[in-house]
Amino acid sequence: MEKKTILSGIQATGNLTLGNYLGALNNWIEMQDKYDCYYMIADLHTLTIRKDPEELRKNTLSLIALYIAAGLDPDKNTIFIQSHIPAHSCLSWVLNCYTYMGELNRMTQFKDKAAKHADNINSGLFTYPVLMAADILAYNADLVPVGDDQKQHLEITRDIAERFNSIYGETFKMPEAYIGKVGARIMGLQDPTAKMSKSSPNELDKILLTDTPEDIRKKFKKAVTDSENVVRYDRETKPGVSNLMAIYGIIKNKTMEEVEKEFEGAGYGNFKSAVAEAVVQRLEPLQKRYYELLENPEKLKAIYEKGDKKASEKANKMLKEVYTKIGLVVD
Ligand code: TYM
Repeated sequence: MEKKTILSGIQATGNLTLGNYLGALNNWIEMQDKYDCYYMIADLHTLTIRKDPEELRKNTLSLIALYIAAGLDPDKNTIFIQSHIPAHSCLSWVLNCYTYMGELNRMTQFKDKAAKHADNINSGLFTYPVLMAADILAYNADLVPVGDDQKQHLEITRDIAERFNSIYGETFKMPEAYIGKVGARIMGLQDPTAKMSKSSPNELDKILLTDTPEDIRKKFKKAVTDSENVVRYDRETKPGVSNLMAIYGIIKNKTMEEVEKEFEGAGYGNFKSAVAEAVVQRLEPLQKRYYELLENPEKLKAIYEKGDKKASEKANKMLKEVYTKIGLVVD
C-alpha cells in the first residue's frame, strides 16, 4: 500500500520554543517511518513581519540543523526550503482567486498579528493562510502535524480545496490536521492562559530550545502555579500546573493520570524540578547535535538541495495539473 503523505513546516524566525518542539517537531519524529514526509522551512511566511535579511538567512539554515538535531533523518524525510520551490508561490496566487476576503477576515491569527503589528498590516499577513494552503495542497498531503493554533488554517485549506474541487473536479486531497492530545498548546510559564510564543517579551514565559540548563531550571522554578500544592490535571482551574504536567507527560511518555500518581504528595517544588530535569535531559543532546551541525553548513546545504529536488518534482506536477484545469497554456 502506498504511504500516506505528511507535510508541515515551521517559520524561520529563530528562537524556537518548547511549544514549537512539543506541539509540532516532536510529533514529526514519530511519523518518519510510517509516512512519506515533507518538512519545509517556511521562510516566505516570515516575510509578513519585517526581518533583518542576514538574520533570516541564518535562521533558515539553523532551522534545518534543528530539524535534524531533533531527530528527523534526512534520508527518510524530504527536508526543503519553501522559497526554493516556486510552485508554492504560483499555486498560492491561483488559490487567492478562490479565497474570499470574508474568510480571511475571520482568521484569529490575522487579527492577533494585525493587533501586534499595527504599523505593518500588509496584505501578506492577510493572505498568509492561502500560502499555507498552497504548501499543503501542492503535495496532496493527507496529514498535517501542527499545534492547536494552526487548526483554523487547516480548516480554510480544506474549504479552498473543496471549492476548487467542486468547480474543476477532484484535484486536491482533503488534508487533516494531526494534533497531539496534550502538547497541542503549550502555554506560557508566567501566563498559562496564553500560548507559549517566540514573540513573548517576557523571557521567563518561554523556554527556548537553545536555553542553557541553568536558564531552564530557573524558568521552571519561577513558573506560575496555584496555592493548592496538589499535582492534578485541570486546565480550567489549574492552568499552570496542568501545563507543566503536559510538558512532563509528553517528554516522559506518560498519561496525565500517571503523572498525577507519580507526584502524589510531592509538592510543587519537587514537581517543578522534575519537569525542569526532564526538559534539560531532552534538550541537552539536541543542543549538542545542533551546534555540531551548525559547524557544517555544507552538510546542511546537501540536505536541503536533495530535499528541494524531490519536493519540486512533486509540487510542479500538481501545479501543472491545476494550471491545466483552470485553462492556462502549459505545454
Ligand atoms: P509556527 O512557526 O508559528 O509554529 C510552528 C509549529 O509550532 C506549533 N506551535 C505550538 N504548539 C504547541 N504549543 C505552542 N505554544 C506552540 N507554538 C507554536 C504551531 O502550531 C506549528 O505547528 N503557519 C505555520 C507554518 C507553516 C505551515 C505550513 C505548517 C507554513 N506552511 C504548512 C503546516 C503546513 C506557522 O506559523 O508555524
